[in-house]
Order: sequence, then structure tokens, then C-alpha cells
Amino acid sequence: MSRPFNYGKLAENDYFTNRTKEMKWLEMQISTGINCILVSPRRWGKSSLLLHTANEMKRKNKKIIFCFLDLYNIRTEKEFLELFSSVVIKAASNSFEDAVRNVKGIFKQLIPSVSISPDPNAEIELSFNWKDLKKNISEILDLPEKIAAQKNVQVVVCVDEFQNISFMEDGIAFQKKLRAHWQKHQKANYVLYGSRRHLMMDFFTKNTMPFYRFGEILFLEKIEETHWIPYIIGRFEATNKKISASLASKIARQMNNHPYYVQQLSQVVWQQTTKTATEFNFLEAIEELLDQYTILYQKEVDILTNYQLNFLKALCNKETSFGSTAVLQGYNLGTSANITRIKAALQNHEIIDVLGKQITFNDPLFEIWLMKRFFKISLQ
Ligand SMILES: Nc1ncnc2c1ncn2[C@@H]1O[C@H](COP(=O)(O)OP(=O)(O)O)[C@@H](O)[C@H]1O
Ligand SMILES: [Mg+2]
Repeated sequence: MSRPFNYGKLAENDYFTNRTKEMKWLEMQISTGINCILVSPRRWGKSSLLLHTANEMKRKNKKIIFCFLDLYNIRTEKEFLELFSSVVIKAASNSFEDAVRNVKGIFKQLIPSVSISPDPNAEIELSFNWKDLKKNISEILDLPEKIAAQKNVQVVVCVDEFQNISFMEDGIAFQKKLRAHWQKHQKANYVLYGSRRHLMMDFFTKNTMPFYRFGEILFLEKIEETHWIPYIIGRFEATNKKISASLASKIARQMNNHPYYVQQLSQVVWQQTTKTATEFNFLEAIEELLDQYTILYQKEVDILTNYQLNFLKALCNKETSFGSTAVLQGYNLGTSANITRIKAALQNHEIIDVLGKQITFNDPLFEIWLMKRFFKISLQ
């Protein structure tokens, strides 16, 4: 039997819920040629949303092409340019032969070598001589606009984990080049998304940065409990099992509505369930997940300092006044200046998320693990 829930892969079709508002917004921007920026922590559903929106838009409009590139493993300008040109050519071509034809018809200065990529998502791979590439960078960066004009289509370039551009040597100079070309494009537009909120904010809202005001920004939120409940019940029913609305809501709440973890906990509860899910199945599922993640979380804890751990303990105890003497002394946190450093470090490790006065764990399961298995604080 196929899995009723999905995590770790992009959510599509039956595995996709809600996001109607966000999809409408994206569709509106893209169809009017406005560049978009999408920001949320990891695994909240950016890539899934983009894929879903692209599929919907392609269904309605045959004259639109989407290209997807993910910068998670890109560290140099050359890697970027090769990936960029490969995905654009691939999206514009129906087959490998067509891609070779397109390459011949489009490139004027550069002579890329085209090969079949070992990466099944890319299928074709363009590579260049770095010296030639450096001289003719415009030819690559203007590729989407050129293809759009030649084929009379709209080209939408979606760049995932965009913040990784800052890891490149001379990243700012490179960003300047990207911006200078992309902002002139009329028939190609760009959706840039990333999971490091602070880096992404710096890119697009600091007036000294090349991508300042490049497009409209959307902060993607988690999926609300009211959407999770019918989704979970529906997935159980589709596989001839049952779950009550109150238990479905408990799954969503326990995982703080985090898309990835709600799907994962639902899957494990489903596996525990014979016919109708019970409270016991739910509790067993949590224990199973905690067991599964223990090695990972132990490693995570090992790299934290005592101050950082003390801070997490206070957070698990739902403390909020971190500047107060009671909390500082009660948890041995040092001075209140120390708190700023601790928060910054934990944010950097992507353990906590700080939004104004609100501090939350990025991983709801890690919070439960810390409480139950590390600090031994009872869950309320
Ligand atoms: N709209 C959605 N409906 C249901 N589950 C979703 C949805 N969006 C994301 N998810 C869940 O979250 C996981 C991570 O989503 P993903 O799109 O990879 O996030 P991101 O790109 O933000 O890291 C998916 O594997 C899926 O389990
Ligand atoms: Mg993603």
C-alpha cells in the first residue's frame, strides 16, 4: 500500500493541502511579470508550494515555462552558471536532441558541451570553459529572456535556497551582475526563495544590497490546524482507517502545525493504528519518533554550550522574561548581555526562531525530546 502521508519529498497532489491564498498571490504576481521572494524556515513548504503553483499555472497556460534550480550545493559562480543554463535549456526542451538543437540555436559566443547528467532531475548538463564563461556571462544570464522571446513564452525561473549566494567568493559582485541582467527582463521573471530569514531580509530590504527591492516578499506561514484536521482524517479514510477530529487536531497541535512534522507524526500514528486510531497509538507514535531521532538530537546537544542548554531549558519551561534576575539566576544564564549572544548562536544553529518577542523551537520534536528525555520536564 502506498504511504498515506508524505514527508521529505515535495508535497504534491493528494499530499498537498491548503495554501490557496498563497497560490493565488503567487499566480497573480507571476502572471503580471512581477518577481517574487518567498521566505520561511526550512520544511514549511516553500518548494512544495512553488511546484504546486507551477503545475496549476502550466495546466491553464501552455505558454509558460518553469525552471527550477536549487542552490543548496552551489558554492561557486561557475557552478551557478552551469546549473542555471542547464535547467533553463532543459525546461525549454522536449528531449535531449531538442536540447542540443536549442543550445546550437541560442548560444552565439559560448560553446557549451552538453551531456546527459547523472542527476535525474537535471537530465542534461551544460558545461563551459571558465575563461570563456567569464567573458560572456551575459549570454548565460540573459538566457531566460532570449528563450522567452524566441519561443514566444513566459519563462519563470525559480531559485531555491537563494541565500546560499552569499557563500560565494565575491558574492556581492556576483549579485550585482545577476540583478543588472535580470531586472531588464520583460518576458522572464524570477521567484527567489530561501530559508534563512535574516539573510533573505538583508538581501531584499537593505538598500545597500544589489537585490534591494527586487520583488514582492511573502513570508510563508505554517499550515493551520483547521486545514490539517480534514487532511489527516481524509488520508486515514483513503486507506480504510479512521481517526477522530480531536486526535487529528492533537497531532497538528503537538507538532506546532509544522508541515513536515505533522505529516511525519500522522504517518507514524497511522502505522500504529489497526482500524481506528486511539490515544494510545498517538502516545506510542511520539515515543517511536523520539527513539528514531535520539542519536541526531544527542549530537545536536553535544555541540551546545552550557549557557545555550540552560537557555533552552528556560524556553522549555515556557519562561519569557529572559532579562529578569529570577530567570537569569534561576537558570544560570550569566548577564542579560549574554542572552543576546546565546539567542544569536542558537538562531545561527537554526535551533530557535526569534520573531520580535516570540521565541520558538524550529523543530517541534526536538523541543519534546529535550523536555521528555533530556531535562525531564513533564509535558503539559
Ligand atoms: N501544502 C502542503 N500540504 C501538506 N504537506 C505539506 C505542504 N507543504 C509542505 N508539506 C510538508 O512539509 C514537507 C517539507 O516541504 P518543502 O516544500 O520541502 O519545504 P521547504 O521547501 O520550505 O523546505 C513536505 O515534505 C511535506 O511533508
Ligand atoms: Mg525547499
